[in-house]
Amino acid sequence: MLIAQISDAHILASASDHPAAERRVDNLALCVADINRQQPDAVVFTGDAAHFGRPEEYARFREVVAPLAAPLYLIPGNRDDNGALRAAFRDRAYMPKNGDFLHYTIEDHALRLIALDSTSHGEHKGFFCAERQVWLDRVLSDQPERPTLLFIHHPPFDVDDHYVGGYRRPEEAAALTGLVARHPQVKRMLCGHVHCPVERSWAGTRASVMPSVAVDLRKGVDETETRERPVYQLHRLSDGAGLVSQTRRVDAPG
Ligand SMILES: [Fe+2]
Repeated sequence: MLIAQISDAHILASASDHPAAERRVDNLALCVADINRQQPDAVVFTGDAAHFGRPEEYARFREVVAPLAAPLYLIPGNRDDNGALRAAFRDRAYMPKNGDFLHYTIEDHALRLIALDSTSHGEHKGFFCAERQVWLDRVLSDQPERPTLLFIHHPPFDVDDHYVGGYRRPEEAAALTGLVARHPQVKRMLCGHVHCPVERSWAGTRASVMPSVAVDLRKGVDETETRERPVYQLHRLSDGAGLVSQTRRVDAPG
């Protein structure tokens, strides 16, 4: 099974006069075209589709990702508005129609996918409240033998100086770590939010953070090497090696 991950596109409305507005659309569009060439089974988006959480930003985001051949699974980031995101993608069967959280499971693939919502309206920091803890423990307990991939916007650990104490309540980040440690079928947790590349041991498994697709916002990437091209990640499930990941830089066509 092959999964593509994109994150933190921070798309702006067509009418925006933000200097990076068009460039962010180009960054995402280039990734979408290259992802189609790799023919993944699924594409996960780890939050911050829109820069201000406005309906017109989701409309534009939706237009840019429309050519994706594989199913796209979205979770919100702190920049997103859950109501607007839900409305823009209400035709996707997995998108919860009601409830406070945009979290869900996908059972269609060799790897079970669990999407976690770490956002709270108007808050920059991450959340993993008691209600979310109960939900995740229940869905992980349902299928303890099934290899599982989690994805969430806010990593529950610090990342150098870029990101320290990222959860509003540190005990909620600790609860996420403790809960996942009790479910060894979790093969990886994929995160966004920090806009820079990290991979590490965590909770008895591995966790990773990928750079933002929006080149103007990314951190921790050697721009001499990447030449300001957008990047995304591919994660391949392989026998014996778990989930093997690579970062792909996308060059402009021609
Ligand atoms: Fe972001």
